[in-house]
Amino acid sequence: MRQKVLAVFGTRPEAIKMAPLVKELLGRDTLQTKVCVTAQHREMLDQVLQIFQIVPDYDLNIMRKGQSLSEITTRVLLDLDSILTQEQPALVLVHGDTTTSFAAALSAFYNRIPIGHVEAGLRTYKKDSPYPEEANRQFVDAISDVFFAPTEQCRQNLIREGKKAEQIFVTGNTAIDALQTTVDLDYHSEITDWVGKSRLLLLTAHRRENLGSTMEEIFRAVRRVVQENEDVKVVYPVHPNPAVVSTAEKVFHGCDRVLLTKPLDVVHFHNLMSRAYLILTDSGGIQEEAPHLGRPVLVLRNTTERPEGVAAGTLKLAGTAEESVYESVSQLLTDSTVYGQMSRAVNPYGDGHASRRIADEIVRQLLQSDGSR
Ligand code: UD1
Ligand code: UDP
Repeated sequence: MRQKVLAVFGTRPEAIKMAPLVKELLGRDTLQTKVCVTAQHREMLDQVLQIFQIVPDYDLNIMRKGQSLSEITTRVLLDLDSILTQEQPALVLVHGDTTTSFAAALSAFYNRIPIGHVEAGLRTYKKDSPYPEEANRQFVDAISDVFFAPTEQCRQNLIREGKKAEQIFVTGNTAIDALQTTVDLDYHSEITDWVGKSRLLLLTAHRRENLGSTMEEIFRAVRRVVQENEDVKVVYPVHPNPAVVSTAEKVFHGCDRVLLTKPLDVVHFHNLMSRAYLILTDSGGIQEEAPHLGRPVLVLRNTTERPEGVAAGTLKLAGTAEESVYESVSQLLTDSTVYGQMSRAVNPYGDGHASRRIADEIVRQLLQSDGSR
């Protein structure tokens, strides 16, 4: 009988980075692969499932407007239990650091099912930054059995924490695999028409620790930059969290060179990234994609668990205070030397074959465990 793998994910970034791996696993005939989505995100998850043509075997449909972390955790735990009992997978795969990842891993652990953690070992070692992701990924790593670390630095973090070297595999990040299928040199859209010859600043912001006054400061800095630079336009696909939408609408009201849109599907978004003059973001995944595309990123945070992009020169921490964000953006609009230094494509997150490496290792381990029964 073929060994079964159950991939569980629920938010946009997990889906984008699990999609290439799910496709790869579905192509391996020595395995049976099933997909369970929690739908911690609804519309933003569905956009990704549609683009990558993934039809889940299970959909927990848990999202509620303004949901709390406890609500997400308990709903996933309660709903996943019966699925794990019924399916009895040989391995549960989770990704990254969301509350879906944490709760799905905990559920597998309670059901005594081995866990494979994709994107393991990222750390800031500051438990509130980002919140709650830093704690989530440490919780997941504490109970995982196989660690797919995107970089050597992540592997070192895991080794320092006492994980065994033979449990850890450095694979690259599957975000780069996804980029191979989305970026199109001939891309053109209503948004690129709107931007025209202006310099495009692509903005995203959604972190829970930035909600409220911190996010307002970030937006005020962007508004000042736009008011002072006539050749600059901002595209901001607003995260549907009601707390983000209200702040964005309040601060950018009346700014006609700031385009607030609904979340863009990943094909549009990756192509806009590749055309942007500059990206401003508090996102995690965008910090992995931008170095590959050679687009400079100002990270709207004080810490990052992705130091490789900072070391490579593509990412710079701009903080979250209005003045520091304003100064950092203004510098990149006026200083062509600094801008040029940040605009080189580098590859700290792999070569676009992470999914193949992860699938190879899963097949090897599961065939081995089958043979040893
Ligand atoms: C979650 C993850 C975060 C990740 C982010 C990616 C946790 C704790 N946080 O944060 O790590 O960076 O996703 O975007 O797991 N909403 C919709 N439709 C959607 C998605 C969200 O309406 O498709 C709204 C809902 O009101 C929801 C709210 O956004 O309650 C917040 O979503 P939630 O998943 O709880 O938190 P995120 O901030 O998205
Ligand atoms: N992204 C997207 N559409 C958007 C904004 C982002 O497809 O409008 C993609 C982006 O390219 C990256 C992922 O979503 O692959 C990042 O997700 P997000 O910022 O929501 O979460 P994080 O990475 O911070 O956990």
